[in-house]
Amino acid sequence: MSSAFEKTIFEDPTLNVIHLLNSISNENPEAISLASGRPDDEQCDPSLIDKGLASYTRYVADTEQSVATLLCQYGKTAGIINEIIAEHLQRDEGIKILNPESIVVCMGFQEAATLTLLSIFEGGGILLVPDPVFSGITGIAKLLKIKIVPVPMNTFLDPSALRKVAEDLEARGENIKALYAISDFSNPTGDSLSYEDRKALLALANEKNFFILEDNAYSYFRYEGDKIPSMKSIDSRRVFLLGSFSKSIFPGLRMGYLVAPEGAGVMSFSSRLCKAKSLITVNTPALCQAVVGGLLIKNNYSLKALNQPRVLSYTKKRNCMIDCLEREFPLKADSRKNVTWNHPAGGFFINVQLPFSFEYFEMCECAKHFKVIVFPTSLFSLTNEAVTQVRLSFSNATESEIKQAIGRLRAYIEFRMQ
Ligand SMILES: Cc1ncc(COP(=O)(O)O)c(C=O)c1O
Repeated sequence: MSSAFEKTIFEDPTLNVIHLLNSISNENPEAISLASGRPDDEQCDPSLIDKGLASYTRYVADTEQSVATLLCQYGKTAGIINEIIAEHLQRDEGIKILNPESIVVCMGFQEAATLTLLSIFEGGGILLVPDPVFSGITGIAKLLKIKIVPVPMNTFLDPSALRKVAEDLEARGENIKALYAISDFSNPTGDSLSYEDRKALLALANEKNFFILEDNAYSYFRYEGDKIPSMKSIDSRRVFLLGSFSKSIFPGLRMGYLVAPEGAGVMSFSSRLCKAKSLITVNTPALCQAVVGGLLIKNNYSLKALNQPRVLSYTKKRNCMIDCLEREFPLKADSRKNVTWNHPAGGFFINVQLPFSFEYFEMCECAKHFKVIVFPTSLFSLTNEAVTQVRLSFSNATESEIKQAIGRLRAYIEFRMQ
């Protein structure tokens, strides 16, 4: 093969995370998997497709528009359900959209992130990310040759430490263009930003003149405590909201959206976002938009009721996993041998801290010999962060599988500690 195809960005480990998640399960079909962050298969309801389509078709029939043209023709680049999404964001998130043109309906978070990065990073600049971080953002940023500065999660969650990072970069002449943050229940660590953290991030973004890319993929899945307002709802001027319906409806739709910054004197990004989109996906499939639009109309623009049974089910699974961890890993007299974990108030993941390094080799060893697949948190890191951490996903395992899986993980850890 030509040398032009050797040693390329496609060899970068960040681009390999999704592949690894799929391949480890395929190679160990008899192992129980707590690796992938897929929504619960039990909660994927194909009847939503017909219900959504029927509701949207009825809605269009009451207007001057033609259902045939809307659903079967090439469509508007920015989308056909922007007003419906605007109403939905007002209802569920308290986000007041000034102009539906600020919304671009996208093929999932992944396209929303791609378009946003393309629209901001022309001419260079830095993307700040917490570390470890969801590889969907770092993978696409790497493909687009954007310079990424990873900030260890503890520093990221400490406003004064984060400010110091920004000031150090500034002093070195670096130009921070954007910061990526998952406000609620991050992937992979389950961390959330407090209300004060959100205000501090917005203040820093205003002061240092950068954008915040706010990912709200898990916001519906809160199992305790009160909802914390999104940064977009607090101050829209600096925030690109990158939304996804993958968890709140289902991922097969590949539906998401972005909302560009809005407010007095704020530059409009609509034109550049739409130009980029018109050359990447032309428009988001009208059929998928119709399903989402119809479901939103049918549910009074809110996804809360639709997700209520899911929230109850995930709460049980999370509690079951925590009970199992407590049972299998009681505290030891020698604290260096302890297995510990966090207690996220929502989302799909629990992050476990082991007394030894757990990386790719250990994942394969544990899957092959102990028949449980758990994912090294370090595979989401751009540095050497989190080498002793493991991401456990409870979203797509039954309670019985969770019990067996945590028992098998204990057996592996005992084997390693001998
Ligand atoms: C942090 C985060 N953001 C967004 C998404 C959803 O992405 P998409 O809408 O492309 O399915 C996921 C899914 O795994 C995620 O973990």
